[in-house]
Amino acid sequence: MSFRSPLINVMVAAARKAARGLVRDFGEVEQLQVSRKGPADFVSQADLKAERSLVADLSKARPAVGFLLEEGGETIGEDPKYRWIIDPLDGTTNFLHGIPHFAISIGFEKEGEMIAGVVFDPIHDELFWAEKGKGAYVNDRRLRVAGRRELREAVVATGITHLGRPEPDRFIRELSHLMVEVAGVRRSGSAALDLAYVAAGRYDGYWERNISPWDMAAGILLVREAGGLVTDLAGGSKLFETGNVLASNDVLHRPLLQYVGDKASYPVMTQATGPGLLPHVP
Ligand code: IPD
Ligand code: CA
Ligand code: CA
Repeated sequence: MSFRSPLINVMVAAARKAARGLVRDFGEVEQLQVSRKGPADFVSQADLKAERSLVADLSKARPAVGFLLEEGGETIGEDPKYRWIIDPLDGTTNFLHGIPHFAISIGFEKEGEMIAGVVFDPIHDELFWAEKGKGAYVNDRRLRVAGRRELREAVVATGITHLGRPEPDRFIRELSHLMVEVAGVRRSGSAALDLAYVAAGRYDGYWERNISPWDMAAGILLVREAGGLVTDLAGGSKLFETGNVLASNDVLHRPLLQYVGDKASYPVMTQATGPGLLPHVP
C-alpha cells in the first residue's frame, strides 16, 4: 500500500515470499503425521528454508545490516547501528501438529530500539506491521489495544511452560491466582501472534517468561504503536535480557503485574472464593 514506507515494503515482500514456502510445506505436514517418525525433520527443513529466504531478500535490500536469527544465530553487519531480529517460523509446535496458527516475525532494530516490525500469519492472511511513530496495522486497518479496564473482563494469553522449559512451579502459581480473576486465559503457541493480538485488541494482555528476542521483537513494536504498554516482568525495559514480557493496555498493566510480575503479591481477590489453588508464596 502506498502509505507503507520502503522499509516496511521490503519486510512485507520478504515475509510474503518466505511464507509461500511455509504454506506449501504446511500442506505436506498433514500427510506426514501418520508416518512413524512424524514430520519433525521435514518441519525443521521448512523452518531453515524460510530463514534462508528471508536473509537473502533482506540482505539484498540492506546489505550493511546484520542479523539475529533463531536458527542461524547472530551476524554483525557493517553498520552495527541496525539489526534484523527474525523468527522464520513462530509456532513450530502448531505447525508440526497441523494446527493453523503460526507466523513469520521480522523486527528491525536501530541502536537497541525496535523501529519496524512485521508479523505475518499466512494461513489467515493477516499481515501485522508497525513502524515507530507511524502506528500499527493489520493489513490496511489501524490497530488499537483494547480499552477494557477490569481484569474480570479481560482475556489474557500466555505461554504454558512445557517439556524442557524452566519454572513450571512459578507458572502454575501465577496462573492459579490470575485465572480466577479474568474472563479467560489462552495459550496460542505463537508469542509473536500473541503480541499482535494484544495490539489488535483481541487479547487484553499477554505474559510469558523465558522467551527469546526473535519471539517478541516485532510484536513489542506492534503493541507500543497500538497504544499499549510492554515491559519485562519487573515492570522495566529489560525484555531481551530477561526473556520476560507483559503486554496490555496501560490500565490493566499494573494489576496484571501484581499477579504475574516478579514481585507478585496476589493482592486483589475479587472473584475467587479463596486465595487460589496453591498457597501464597512471597
Ligand atoms: C515458541 C512460541 C511459543 C512460546 C515459546 C516459543 P517457536 O516459538 O512462540 O508460543 O511459548 O516459548 O519458543 O519455537 O515456535 O519458534
Ligand atoms: Ca519463536
Ligand atoms: Ca521459531
